[in-house]
Amino acid sequence: MFDALPLAPPDAILGLGEAFKKDPNPKKINLSVGVYKDERGETPILVSVKDAERQLLEKEKSKGYLSIEGLAEYGSRVQELLFGAGHEILTSGRAVTAQTPGGTGALRVAADLLRKHYPTAKVWVSKPTWANHPAIFAAAGQQVETYSYIDAAGQGLDFSAMLAALKQIPADDIVLLHACCHNPTGIDPTPEQWREISKVMAERKLLPLVDFAYQGFGDGLAEDAAGLRELARLNTELLVCSSFSKNFGLYGERVGALTLVAGSADAAQKALSQVRVCIRTNYSNPSIHGGALVAAVLSDPKLRQQWDAEVAAMRSRIHQMRKLFVETMKTKAPKHDFSFIARQRGMFSFSGLSNLQVDELRTKHAVYVVGNGGRINVAGMTANNMQALCDAIAAVL
Ligand code: LMR
Repeated sequence: MFDALPLAPPDAILGLGEAFKKDPNPKKINLSVGVYKDERGETPILVSVKDAERQLLEKEKSKGYLSIEGLAEYGSRVQELLFGAGHEILTSGRAVTAQTPGGTGALRVAADLLRKHYPTAKVWVSKPTWANHPAIFAAAGQQVETYSYIDAAGQGLDFSAMLAALKQIPADDIVLLHACCHNPTGIDPTPEQWREISKVMAERKLLPLVDFAYQGFGDGLAEDAAGLRELARLNTELLVCSSFSKNFGLYGERVGALTLVAGSADAAQKALSQVRVCIRTNYSNPSIHGGALVAAVLSDPKLRQQWDAEVAAMRSRIHQMRKLFVETMKTKAPKHDFSFIARQRGMFSFSGLSNLQVDELRTKHAVYVVGNGGRINVAGMTANNMQALCDAIAAVL
């Protein structure tokens, strides 16, 4: 049976990470997969996470199964992070949260839930979006459509085109929005634009499905949730897919969450019962460790303070690298204006490099960036690799 199987192409993002590992060039630079690097080019375990891990080692008594939706404490803390402690959504019990294997797991559970109960609803994603988004929804059997997002220059948001596109979407369809740090462009709506988006979503009766993978990497933990909170103000129902890969550095532990907000506590509990069915037939129940760490950090005031500071340090380093990249490119390729990179947020930006230039960067300079827009992971830049990186980019321009 398997002899007849065709070879699938490597994953557009993770495939590059694999190719990078095999590249023998000692000067190679990886700006492909979205992983944070410190100034030494390493991806460290956060101090808050290590401390929580030590405490857990002492306290943990059993490795028995979690419930299908995971740790209750984890769910509560995730909701506080999303909406703020004491928010009406939390006090009224309108939100339910399931612990999932990463943000991807949350997206897939959401996709399965929506496909099963709303089979004719289409999912609308921004053009462009994270390469895995359409793949996840298509794998769940959903029809995926796109709405306009980026301007013709590829450097900013074409907000009027975005709004016009949202206004054309039929009622009860699902619209995937990036809460902050849009992947792959780094281009986010302003607070005023979020207000308009929220209004159109509510007027058109569209269901917001919010991907929140970079909370804290844009302007701050609460600041980055402003768009989501604005959506929740006017839209009674919504779904949020959180990832703690980046802001907790828990990539390989696969820690995420699906939060569903319904019109009432009763509706939320019924929806949760359906979420449980989707999870049980997929991975049964979540793994314990990563969720326990996040819950421990978010519940302990000292660890929480430490974590806040660590997120702020990662955010600030990314901002610094954006500025340094723009300054260095100014000296290496003065005819090319990269100043837009400093205005963008989060790990990623579209460099504007063509697929040909992206290939040349990899084959001639061992610099790995993602094709179709030349997505660069700014968090992979360091003061040490900046000169070589910008020399390589200038050479292929
Ligand atoms: C990325 O976009 O590089 C990250 O979200 C990692 C991934 O799974 O693609």
